[in-house]
Amino acid sequence: MKFRRKIYVVGGDLTTFIGKHHPDFIWKKHPDFGKKENPTLEELLTQAINGAFEKTGVDPEAIERGFIGNFAGELFSNQGHMGALAVRANEKLHGKPFTRLEGACASGGLAVAAGIDALNAGHDVVMAAGSEVQTTCSAREGAGYLARASHWETERDIDDFTFPAMFARRAKHYKEKYGVTDEDIAHVTVKAYKNANKNPYAHMRSIEMDLESAANAGDRNPQFLRNEELKPHLKVSDCSQVSDGAAAIILATEEGLEKLGIDKSDTIEVLAYAQATSPLGDVDDYTVLNNTMQAAQQVYEEAGLKPSDINVAEVHDCFAVTELLMYEALGFADPGKGAELAREGETGIEGSIPVNTGGGLLAFGHPVGATGVKQVLEIYRQMKGQCGDYQIPETPKYGLTANMGGDDRTTVAMAFENV
Ligand code: ACO
Repeated sequence: MKFRRKIYVVGGDLTTFIGKHHPDFIWKKHPDFGKKENPTLEELLTQAINGAFEKTGVDPEAIERGFIGNFAGELFSNQGHMGALAVRANEKLHGKPFTRLEGACASGGLAVAAGIDALNAGHDVVMAAGSEVQTTCSAREGAGYLARASHWETERDIDDFTFPAMFARRAKHYKEKYGVTDEDIAHVTVKAYKNANKNPYAHMRSIEMDLESAANAGDRNPQFLRNEELKPHLKVSDCSQVSDGAAAIILATEEGLEKLGIDKSDTIEVLAYAQATSPLGDVDDYTVLNNTMQAAQQVYEEAGLKPSDINVAEVHDCFAVTELLMYEALGFADPGKGAELAREGETGIEGSIPVNTGGGLLAFGHPVGATGVKQVLEIYRQMKGQCGDYQIPETPKYGLTANMGGDDRTTVAMAFENV
């Protein structure tokens, strides 16, 4: 889509992403068990929305529309009607048009995309937020809820853990086609935890992961699938986290920035975005993220960029192998060469193309509806030097996000320029 107007990310905020293994997450062995509860979907969303107003100095009154990414509020929290839930966050939002967007794990990206569309259609200041709570049930039950993002009729029964199994299938095919090893894939996991250990917002900020632990299955890192064919291709450490969290950003046009009194130098520009959607249950090559590739190609073309121009990227690493497939779909590596990029450290904080600098879905965490919004906020924070201990050394000029729903069925890709 050709943009009619220049569009900027003004900034935003996020909550800490929490869940099992986070020191603040309340579970039966936590000292505060019985005394304190984990935050609800509404509390997280409220915190991110009001945090975005505080961090940017934008008066909530200025927001003309709002878009909320959430995948499965009804299942995990008995809560739907997310637009009306979100405006409870602040009295000044009451009555404003807020709407929910759903596209599985790409729900957050869709919320940002809808915000961009609204600005192109004539609005000047909008909010995009996303939130998910997933820890209200066991991981196995939650996997059944997340399986609603697959083609239920034909894919749900691949395993109780439907999505982990689908990506174990991709890992199996990728390893067989290119001779990639578990140790190659483990480099992605080690990088993710290393970055998360420096990120105060990250779910796995206090869990360390070395190459040996990430590369090998064992009692503490089990291959947990029941599907015998796929079981050897996935361990717990290969998986993104079951996290709770929220993120919110504010987007504006040039006129919007003027109204807000915000200087362009405090923003980043959205150069282009593209969404691609492929039919559920219809993957023809498990070694390629074709849908993501389509979205990325369109974004590069519309932004006038090529993969080598990108200085920082947030990609959808729902499983460790997915990050390698993302490198290839986004053109950072040739087919089958993603593992080399990770092994050589090129996607680390100090590498030539830092990817998932805060720990990615694997270790920053993956509150599904928040992820796509958080990705954009991370690019903003890296470009504005706000990432503290995990700040990349050189200020990035161009950034890319790729937020994926399901087994590469919905992808939202975006390109940004530092202003
Ligand atoms: N030995 C053998 N089996 C074990 C062991 C062990 N030591 N520990 C656990 N298991 C098995 C058990 O069968 C257990 O299930 P059960 O308790 O119901 O029998 C299963 O592994 C899971 O163990 P949990 O302790 O419940 O798992 P945990 O809470 O640590 O979660 C998991 C780990 C399952 C990997 C979780 O983090 C997860 O599901 N991650 C993926 C989330 C996901 O799919 N998100 C969507 C991504 S798709 C997208 O974004 C496009």
